[in-house]
Amino acid sequence: MKGNITESNTVIGNLSQTTQFYAVFGNPIHHSKSPTLHQAFAKQTGEKILYTAMLVDIGGFATAANQFFSSGGKGLNITVPFKIDALRYAQQLTDRAKKAGAVNTLIKKDNIVIGDNTDGIGFIDDVVTNLQWPIRHKNILILGAGGAIRGVLDPLLHSYPASITIANRTVEKAEQLVAGLTNNTSCQINACHYDNIDTPFDIIINGTSASLHGELPSLSPSIITANSRCYDMMYSKEPTVFMRWGKHCGAKEVADGLGMLVCQGAESFYQWRGVKPQTRAVIKALRLSL
Ligand code: ATR
Repeated sequence: MKGNITESNTVIGNLSQTTQFYAVFGNPIHHSKSPTLHQAFAKQTGEKILYTAMLVDIGGFATAANQFFSSGGKGLNITVPFKIDALRYAQQLTDRAKKAGAVNTLIKKDNIVIGDNTDGIGFIDDVVTNLQWPIRHKNILILGAGGAIRGVLDPLLHSYPASITIANRTVEKAEQLVAGLTNNTSCQINACHYDNIDTPFDIIINGTSASLHGELPSLSPSIITANSRCYDMMYSKEPTVFMRWGKHCGAKEVADGLGMLVCQGAESFYQWRGVKPQTRAVIKALRLSL
């Protein structure tokens, strides 16, 4: 039946009359780290919440969300493939959800369901606060022009880099992203193909889905110097192919996107509960569990 939701796991905190309900919707969902994350956040902050992962039928998002909120649910995380369904479902959108063109967090407040996007701030929190990689005045190269990149562009731009170059296999998609940005900063923004980049960059961000298949766009090693840092938005137990490539070319530091995952979750938690969890210890624990 369309709209069926199946709870797959995890009760958080002590159930009581004050416990409030949250969940992540996705399909597939068994791989989701969100219940583990929010369990850690709830423990750390003393907030009483119950958080489950729910498998939602493709095409059944609105029915499932209606069912969740009408039975008292207070907030949802949204993962693949429902971020656009959630954008359409929300009765109000935050500015950052509008700019990202996707919703990864729904918040029920005063009987209204608000759609938010915490991916961008999650990325910036991880890069700037946890990893302490400076962005201001730096030259940034972005690989890919899909949904993952769209969510981080505006917050990146407002961290005031000197330049942002978006390289993509399909150059038109990179050009569309650039055209859709409101740039009221002095940052230079360019779109190009991988073949057209050969000068060094300070930070290189891989947002392509090529990593998922152990592949990399073909890149010139000359874009890396001993001061370059490489960030892969994907994560895995072992260093990703992009991280290994960066290290091999002599990059100063490399990181995967596990921290971004934890930081976007921490911001969702903050939007729901008004308390922002610390992320470093949670990232460390999650890394050990991979
Ligand atoms: P997501 O929403 O997860 O970002 P997406 O919108 O399908 O997924 O975008 C995937 C990105 O990875 C795109 O930039 C895609 O390039 P194209 O726009 O040219 O398709 C990129 N990508 C996927 N596989 C790739 C590969 N083997 N080599 C280079 N780029 C690849």
